[in-house]
Amino acid sequence: MPPKLYIETVGCQMNVLDSELVVGSLRRQGYELTHELDNADVIFFNTCSVRQHAEDKIYSALGRLRSHKRRHPGTIIGVLGCMAQKDQELVRRRAPHVDIVCGTGQLARLPELIAQVRQTGRPQFALSLDRKEASRHDVERSFESYDPLRDPSMRPNRFQAYVRIMIGCDKFCTYCIVPQVRGPEQSRHPDVITAEARQLADEGCKEVTLLGQTVNSYKYDLGDGRRSRLSDLLAKLHDTPGIERIKFITNFPRDMSDDLLDAVRELPKVCPYLHVPVQSGCNEVLKRMKRLYTVEYYRDMLVRCRERVPGVSISSDFIVGFSGESEPSFQRSCDLVAESGFKNSYIFKYSPRPGTKGHELYPDDVPEEIKKRRNNDLLAIQNKVSLQDHLGRVGQVVEVLVEGPSKTFLKANGQQQTGKSALSQLTGRTRTDHIVVFEGNQRLIGQTVQMVIHEATAFTLFGGVVTMEKIHQPNFDDAAVSPPQAEVALSARVSLPVI
Ligand code: 5AD
Ligand code: SF4
Repeated sequence: MPPKLYIETVGCQMNVLDSELVVGSLRRQGYELTHELDNADVIFFNTCSVRQHAEDKIYSALGRLRSHKRRHPGTIIGVLGCMAQKDQELVRRRAPHVDIVCGTGQLARLPELIAQVRQTGRPQFALSLDRKEASRHDVERSFESYDPLRDPSMRPNRFQAYVRIMIGCDKFCTYCIVPQVRGPEQSRHPDVITAEARQLADEGCKEVTLLGQTVNSYKYDLGDGRRSRLSDLLAKLHDTPGIERIKFITNFPRDMSDDLLDAVRELPKVCPYLHVPVQSGCNEVLKRMKRLYTVEYYRDMLVRCRERVPGVSISSDFIVGFSGESEPSFQRSCDLVAESGFKNSYIFKYSPRPGTKGHELYPDDVPEEIKKRRNNDLLAIQNKVSLQDHLGRVGQVVEVLVEGPSKTFLKANGQQQTGKSALSQLTGRTRTDHIVVFEGNQRLIGQTVQMVIHEATAFTLFGGVVTMEKIHQPNFDDAAVSPPQAEVALSARVSLPVI
């Protein structure tokens, strides 16, 4: 029987991608993926350190495994990713039954670490160097971008994929642990990235989302005096046949250059969607956060984005309750959200991270109750703004990449799909990253369709298909297209499409 791997992932898209790649590499070693912890030979937790809550979740999951390990001493338990890099021996002290502690920059070594645990019966550590304790060059070498060959069966679907274009971060915002746990900023060679995109396209991928902690800081010195920026990379990726959409996350406000905005406007495959976290609307707080810009700069940047990329949608992140955030400073964040036109914002309560400057220099002086209240208040304002943005889209025809059954549909019908021709509630995203829910045929999954939006809430657009549906199945590729009205209004909510 092939050995079985169970993996649980918390955190950001980088972690999702890392887990996909870990699974892929162990599959090549003969492992099978299992969703049941009880029958797994190897149990991995790919962890996040951005907030305390994410760490607590992992420690309680590890606690629950203590008796499991006693009953099944042969099972290998591994802690991977950011928390492994950050806490190292502490993980073993708090959970002595853990066999592998492997940081973000060492994931390529996992097959070897498993073999060593089996051979020696001793725990194995694979960690990168601490940024303060070695030269930049040595630290960089110890954080290796983990990008083995892609395997389409690892992704939730074939037609969308993350592509890492850089690792690490050099910004050192005072609240953030990422520069420590993901190491120095290092961009990948544009040729390596484009080759990966080509491979993904050959496997049926239509949409790539480029990943970087500060993705718009991407730069690669080509060695002949030329430098490849994100705008250059986008132009290069744009030539990949089969790729229909290119997105990129997450942007740093100061690096939102005009050449990048021009590329977003000019390259039709690049989606007009920008995630540009501001974190706070108050200059004093931004200064303590060491964000390197003022709120006036950020406002001007928003104007510039909208001028240079007409129709662009913009989303943001906020931290509430950072050290010293007074009621008036919080109010400035509220004002910014109210006037911003953000599509959505992710709002977080400040969580002090040992190892950051913020933790060292500033007290965590906003009580939890106040953080909670500010979180709710800011969210309520953002929800109004999102609703406005969404209502403005009612009646529009938009292009949607259909992703799969909606969460509501899956909850009601279980994970299994009801057959390719079945009608179900589906979900997809527009080029501006808006979620659209509609009723449609499951064979639309993976296709880009034109939709009319006929209803909106603060979270979701509801629509109906008005696309030129391809006919003459099963040969989709060279199929003729029927007139635009061919497949109309599968949604019960739609009476007639407005086109
Ligand atoms: N506490 C709360 N939120 C944080 N973030 C990063 N570090 C912290 C922290 N210590 C948030 C920021 C970032 C997002 C990914 O997580 O808003 O943009
Ligand atoms: Fe963290 Fe700031 Fe780097 Fe983003 S830019 S990963 S918030 S240090």
